[in-house]
Amino acid sequence: MMTHTPTRTLLALAVAVALTGAMVGCNSDDEQTQTTTKDDAYYLSQATGLLAQLSTSEKLDLLSGPNTYYGESPTNLVNDVSGVAGYINGILNDETGVHIPALKLADGPAGLRISSSRDGQSGTFYATAWPIGSLLASSWDTALQEEVGEAFGNEVKEYGVDILLAPGMNIQRNPLNGRNFEYYSEDPVLTGHTAAAMVNGIETNGVGTTIKHFFGNNSETNRSSINDIAEPRTWREIYLRGFQIAVTEAQPWALMTSYNKVNGSYVNERRDAVTSILRDEWGFNGLAMSDWFAGDVSNNAHKQVLSGQDLIEPGGVKAQLAAALEAGTLSQSDVDTAALHILTQVLKSPSYQGYAYSNNPDLNSHAALARRAGDESMVLLQNDNNALPIADSNTVATFGVNQIATYKGGTGSGDVNAAYTVNIADGLAERFTVNADLQSFYASYYEANKVYHTGNFGAAGYYTCDESSLSDELTSLITTAASADDVGVISIGRQAGEGADRSAEAGDYYLSDAELALIDQVSTLFKAQGKPVVVVLNVNGVIDTEQWKDKVDGILLAYMGGQETGRQVADLLSGDVNPSGKLAQTFPKSYDDIPSASTFPGEDTDGDGSPDDIYYNEGIYVGYRYFSSFDKAVSFPFGYGLSYTSFSYAGTAVGSNTLDSDGAKGSVTVTTTITNSGSVAGKEVAQVYVSAPEVKLKKPAIELKAYAKTASLDAGSSEQLSFEIPAYILASFSPDDNEWIIEPGTYQVYVSPSADVASTTPVTFSVAKEIVVSSTTAGALALPDGTSAADFITVSE
Ligand code: BGC
Repeated sequence: MMTHTPTRTLLALAVAVALTGAMVGCNSDDEQTQTTTKDDAYYLSQATGLLAQLSTSEKLDLLSGPNTYYGESPTNLVNDVSGVAGYINGILNDETGVHIPALKLADGPAGLRISSSRDGQSGTFYATAWPIGSLLASSWDTALQEEVGEAFGNEVKEYGVDILLAPGMNIQRNPLNGRNFEYYSEDPVLTGHTAAAMVNGIETNGVGTTIKHFFGNNSETNRSSINDIAEPRTWREIYLRGFQIAVTEAQPWALMTSYNKVNGSYVNERRDAVTSILRDEWGFNGLAMSDWFAGDVSNNAHKQVLSGQDLIEPGGVKAQLAAALEAGTLSQSDVDTAALHILTQVLKSPSYQGYAYSNNPDLNSHAALARRAGDESMVLLQNDNNALPIADSNTVATFGVNQIATYKGGTGSGDVNAAYTVNIADGLAERFTVNADLQSFYASYYEANKVYHTGNFGAAGYYTCDESSLSDELTSLITTAASADDVGVISIGRQAGEGADRSAEAGDYYLSDAELALIDQVSTLFKAQGKPVVVVLNVNGVIDTEQWKDKVDGILLAYMGGQETGRQVADLLSGDVNPSGKLAQTFPKSYDDIPSASTFPGEDTDGDGSPDDIYYNEGIYVGYRYFSSFDKAVSFPFGYGLSYTSFSYAGTAVGSNTLDSDGAKGSVTVTTTITNSGSVAGKEVAQVYVSAPEVKLKKPAIELKAYAKTASLDAGSSEQLSFEIPAYILASFSPDDNEWIIEPGTYQVYVSPSADVASTTPVTFSVAKEIVVSSTTAGALALPDGTSAADFITVSE
C-alpha cells in the first residue's frame, strides 16, 4: 500500500515554519524591519498561515480551476488577459479578509500564447515567436537558452500572465510525434539541461514555468487514453531523466502531468509517479497540475488529488471533489496538502503581488535576440565543395513554395500570435540579389493553391501547398535561373502540431514526388553550369535526407526559427554568422531504421481501429543509444553539425575523480582544448559520451553525460573546455535493487564533435566498487500484471 507520510511531513514542517514566523511578529520593531529572505521557506510559511484561514469550499476552489470552456468564470479575476489557457481561482472573502486574485496561465513553449487583441482595449498584444524547442536545443548553449528565457519571461510578466505552461520536454522517441517541435531532443541529458536553462531564465522575472508533459506523452494519436508500456528502467533512464534534471537544477514553480496512461493507469492518478518519484525522490516542491481535461476527470477527479497532483485544469470539478470529501474517498489532509502547494506558488505571482504590468515589452530587442538564438542553433548538415557561404556578389535563385509559406513554428498550443514572420524569400531578398521572377512565380502559385487546415482544439489553423509539379513555366524559370544566377536555394517545409501525429509517407517524413522532382531538375541544370544547390529545411522535426542528399551540395536544417526565420537563414547562408548548431536528434537512413518504427503510434487491442497500447520494445535504446549500440549507419548522427571553419580537439584528460571518495556526492571532471584550425571565427559544441562497464546492467554503447560550447574562437585560437559529470548523471537504474548505481570498472570517455565517436580516442577513469547514488521507491512504475520485459523488449545488447 502506498503511504501519504511524506506530504504530511511537509505540512507539519510548514506549520512549524509558520509558527516561527508568527513569533518573529512579536519581536521588537528593529527585528521586524530586518529584510526577510523571500525563499521557498518564506512562501511556505505564508501559505500555511493563509491556508488556516480558508474554508473547505475555498480550498476546493483552488484545487479545481474554473472551466471557462463550459462557461464558468474564475473567482476574483482582476485584469483578464485574453487568450490565456486557464486560471487558478482566486478567493474574495470580506469576512476573513482573504483576497487572492485569480492567476492567469498561458501557453506555450515557443513564445507566450495570448490573443493579439483584447476586447475594449486598443493596441496589439503580440508576443515574440522564438525558435521552436528542437531548434533552441540544437544551440547546445545553456547561457543563450537562459537569455532567451529571461526575455520570454519578461513578456509573460509584462502582458499580465502569472504562470507559463512551458517548457515542453518529452523525449523525442519517434520522429512522427506531431508535437516533437515543442520538445528538445531524443536525449534526456540535453533535454534536462535545456529545460532547466529555460526555467531559470523565465523565472528570473518572478513568473512561473510549468515543465510538461510528465511523462510518456510521446505521441498524439489517441493521446487521452493511450497506454504507454515500458520497463521501470526505461521510464527512469530515458523518459523521466530530463524532468529529474530540470527539477534538480531549476525547481520550477509548476509541472503538468500528461494525458496518457503509463503501464496501465493514467499518470495523473499515479501516486508512485506524482508523489513518490517527483516529490519524495527528487524533492519537487512546486504545484503539479493536470493537462487540460486529462484522464478520467469526469468520473474520478479525486483520484488525481490522491496521486499528489494539486490542480485540475481547466477544472469545473469542485462539486465532484466535494462529493468525494463527503464520501470519504478524499481526505481533508489530501485537500490541504494540494491547496498548500498551490498557495505557495500563488503568493509569488505577479497577480498576487499586484504587479502593474505594462503591456509593452520591448518586442524589438526580443526580435533581435530571437534572430540571434536561431542563428546560433540552425544546423549545417552538408556543405560539399564549400558551396556555402554564398558570396555577396552572387545572385540567388530561390525555389519551393516554402520560401513564401515559411513556418515560424508548429501548431496547437505551441503556436504564438506574433506580429510577423519573415519568410525565407524575403529574408534572402534582404541580403542578396534574388531572382524576382521566381519569387513572384512562387508567391502567385501559393496564393492560388494553398489549402487551409483547421487547427485542432480551437487552435489557429495553417496552410499547406503542394509543390508545383514541374509545369512548363517552372521548367523554363529553372532553366533561365541556372544560366543567369549563381546559386540555387530550395526550401522544403513541413508543418505539424498538437492533436495528430505525422506519417511515414511521401509528402511528410519522406519528400513528395514533386519535391524530389524539383530537387532533381534544379540540381541537374545548376550542376551542368557548375553552380551549387542548397536545400533549406523549414521543418517541425526529423525528415528523410538520405534519398536526396547526394543530389545537392548544401543542406541547412533551419527547423522553425520563429518570426525571424527568413533572416536567420540569410545570416547563415551568407556567412554573416558561422553555423554552430548541432543535431539534438539522429537523422536515420530510413524511417524503418528507427527502433520504435514498428510500435508507433501503438497497437489496436480492442479492434476499434485506433491504437490503445504502445509497447516501448526498444527499452532504453532510443535515438543514438540504439544506432551506436547496434552499429547502424545513419544519415546524420546525433550531435552533428558543420561550420565554415574546422576545429581540432587536443589534450583531452580526466581532471579529477571523486567518485570513490565522495560516492553519491562525487563527480568526474574532464577537460579538452579546442582549437579553431580553419580560417574564419566560429564556435564549437563538444560533447562528452561515456561508455560504462557492464556488471549487473547492460548499457548503451555510449551515453551523453556533459557538453559545452566554446566562445567564438578566431582562426588559430583555442579554448580549454571543462565538463563535470556528477554522480547522479553518471548513474544507471538497477531495477532489481531499486537503486541508481554506478557500477565498478573502467569508464571510457569520448570528448567528441558528435555521437559518431569512431575517430575519437577515449580517456578513462575507474570506479573501485559499486556506488549507490540513491535509493528509489520499491515497485514504482511496475509493468502491468501479467507482463514482463521478456514479453516485449525486442532490443537488447
Ligand atoms: C496541451 C497542453 C497545454 C494545454 C493548455 C493541452 O491541450 O496538451 O500542453 O498547455 O492544452 O492549452
